[in-house]
Amino acid sequence: MRKLILAISVLALAGSAAFADPIADRQALMKANGKAASVLAPIVKGEKPFDQAAVMAALTQLSENAQKIDVAALFPAGSDTGEKTTASPKIWEEPTEFQAKVDKFRADTAAAVAAAPKDVDALKAQFGAIGANCGGCHETFRIKKG
Ligand code: HEC
Repeated sequence: MRKLILAISVLALAGSAAFADPIADRQALMKANGKAASVLAPIVKGEKPFDQAAVMAALTQLSENAQKIDVAALFPAGSDTGEKTTASPKIWEEPTEFQAKVDKFRADTAAAVAAAPKDVDALKAQFGAIGANCGGCHETFRIKKG
């Protein structure tokens, strides 16, 4: 029985590896980050009224996305090439630093959900901390193209 379960899980792993497109997967995840940030930014700027439900949904989305950044699965060795990726080779040269950025993003987004901001000022503090993660990681680990 144990052998059978092992065999099935090995097959499942092989199957997902065969179909996975880590570049597309991580870009989709990052696009979702961009979408969640674009819900929060106008509220922080005062262009849209504070909407607690929308704010919590966006923060939760960011936190879930952060948890999903599995570096080994989304940034496997060799996935730094190709025209469509803007991932910097630094990700593979400085894996400890990159993982630390992922961990910080996870911690800050989880903290924002836990803080459950009730007004714009509270959201500003959380959004500022989260935004520093986006910019900070992109600065070092993403190449600017074009
Ligand atoms: C731990 C590092 C890290 C953090 C934190 C991070 N990003 Fe990224 N992001 C990347 C990398 C690396 C890429 C390039 C991926 C590729 O092209 O393969 C990227 C790409 C993107 C893209 C372009 C996706 C595409 O379609 O090519 C967007 C949009 C984006 N990030 C938004 C965000 C936002 C918004 C946040 C914060 C809420 C964020 N990112 C946080 C590393 C990070």
